[in-house]
Amino acid sequence: MFDLKDLYQEVIIDHNRSPRNFGKMDSPDRTLEGFNPLCGDRLTLYLKMGGEQIDDISFDGSGCAISVASASMMTDAMKGKTAKEAEEIFNNFHELVTTDGSNVDSDKLGKLAALAGVREYPTRVKCATLCWHTLHSALEGEQTPISTE
Ligand code: FES
Repeated sequence: MFDLKDLYQEVIIDHNRSPRNFGKMDSPDRTLEGFNPLCGDRLTLYLKMGGEQIDDISFDGSGCAISVASASMMTDAMKGKTAKEAEEIFNNFHELVTTDGSNVDSDKLGKLAALAGVREYPTRVKCATLCWHTLHSALEGEQTPISTE
């Protein structure tokens, strides 16, 4: 049985209650929507790039607590990162939530490691990775909304 208490570490509760970087950005360089058709949740990611670097990033939309907390923590972690660094963190995060985590470089993850518990709940993995797949596609210049299915 899925028990929210198993997942809800303090940092996740905090990011869900007070999402960081929440809101539409004025004149973003890139905008991309991510959609989870299983539940209907969607988020939009806004990026301001300085060459290869993510100068600013924000999101809005509506989603479950895990998807909001994950997007909040991801946007916090991505400011000032290059697209290559973002990709490395994404790969580590994906490994964290889809495997036993033995190959994860936790130094690269920081607070994001709090989401490790979602690996026990496959539907929640989609909640936690929705924002990441959206970021990955936005950095690749994709403009078509992405879907978790
Ligand atoms: Fe919809 Fe989590 S239930 S993204």
